[in-house]
Amino acid sequence: MSTTVLAAPPRFRGRMPLLRFLRTLRDSSVATYGEEMFEQAIVERRVLWQRYLIVSAPRGIQRVLLDNAANYVKSRVARRLVEPGIGRGLLTSEGEVWRRQRRIMAPSFDHRSLVSYAPVMTEATATVLARWDDLAGGATLDIAVEMMRLTLKIIARTMFSADAEDVGPIVEGAVGRYQREVRPGLLDLLNLPDWWPRPSTRPWSQIFDRLDAVIDRLMTRDLAATGETKDLLARLLEARDAETGRGMDPREVRDQVVTIFMAGHETTAQALTWTWYLLSQHAAQEEKFHAELDRVLGGRAPRSEDLAQLRYTRMVLEESMRLYPPAHTMSREALAEDEIEGHRVAKGTVVSIVPWLLHRHRLLWDRPEVFDPERFAPERASARPRFAYIPFGGGPRICIGAGFAMTEALIILAMLGQRYRPRLAPGAAIEPVGLITLRPRHGLPMILERR
Ligand code: HEM
Repeated sequence: MSTTVLAAPPRFRGRMPLLRFLRTLRDSSVATYGEEMFEQAIVERRVLWQRYLIVSAPRGIQRVLLDNAANYVKSRVARRLVEPGIGRGLLTSEGEVWRRQRRIMAPSFDHRSLVSYAPVMTEATATVLARWDDLAGGATLDIAVEMMRLTLKIIARTMFSADAEDVGPIVEGAVGRYQREVRPGLLDLLNLPDWWPRPSTRPWSQIFDRLDAVIDRLMTRDLAATGETKDLLARLLEARDAETGRGMDPREVRDQVVTIFMAGHETTAQALTWTWYLLSQHAAQEEKFHAELDRVLGGRAPRSEDLAQLRYTRMVLEESMRLYPPAHTMSREALAEDEIEGHRVAKGTVVSIVPWLLHRHRLLWDRPEVFDPERFAPERASARPRFAYIPFGGGPRICIGAGFAMTEALIILAMLGQRYRPRLAPGAAIEPVGLITLRPRHGLPMILERR
């Protein structure tokens, strides 16, 4: 047997005193990365004794997310922030439980289902257009809030046949407080075992009690319904284990519903928010976007078969998720020792994959700070290493809602962009903050300008 001594990855150079690091992290995780992080393939960061490996080498990412995915489970650090409120849904479950949950949910995200959701998406967007039309010309709105409400309405209708008037404010309130109040503290970062005592200072029950009551209502309503279309909630309630014949217990169904509500609207809303912001700052690209909408749609609402024709719009969206990836960080924990791109990974190491760094990495992208949708033209995209661009993650745990999100975002951009050219409100300061998702710190105030 031979032993190879592997070089240690460079230690995080822009060292910050621990307290300042913790304070910065609580405010915005993306603010903890110094300039040098945008040009290094693998960096080790230590918080006291806990090792963090930040991997920005596409082949290393492929090893973690795909080739040796069985060795990398969702990290306790991430789970601890998510599970007490969201529960053990598809986002955090592992092994056989995860496989079963993913199998049950997959049909709600297949091509046929997406086609059937398109009319709901256009209808919901049409109500936003009607409201915008009713506002006096030149009204200023927070586009981040507008996009959240719209995507929430769409997820409630498509997945749970629920009306957003009913559930909307409650989910919105829960997501807002969750983002504001759930920040990693030192005890989370140290990756201590689950039995380790920790003060329970987080207001979980205040955040989730009202949402749980809404979900209870949804569950009984759906059980009683005899409707023809089978939504995700019906699928979850009907699912039976192949071996035992048992269904999911109400807690498990609840956790899946909260997961889909939380994972299924805010991310897409942030992608759209950043896209409107970028378009407002880049006149030539905005003009090209409008020209495509006019050419392909000629003023009518898009149908799902039109979406393949909206090539430039898709490139704009992809480039926006490169610069502002809504899911800015993914984290895993090594179950056993491994090697990533020549670096030894000790058991228990937390491996962070940070699209915020990867998508702006100087060794992977030409002029990474520049907004250039043409990077996603097929010939240029195919020259890029696999796993250099991962807004939806990769491997078996890739986002189940990626197709849903793209369909929804294209429809929304196409419909609103045909009639409006939102302009950034004077004096608005746009600063990305990495909390659970990447969002503009003070929202996105924009003036609605008719085209
Ligand atoms: C632009 C929008 C979206 C982005 C950027 C996004 C991003 C991601 C990423 C990066 C992951 C992988 C996380 C990891 O590996 O640790 C993920 C997983 C997931 N996403 Fe999304 N997502 C989006 C929209 C959606 C939508 C619309 C839904 C549901 C309707 C959804 C539901 C989920 C679920 C359930 C998982 C866990 C999948 C699994 O582990 O099997 N996401 N998402």
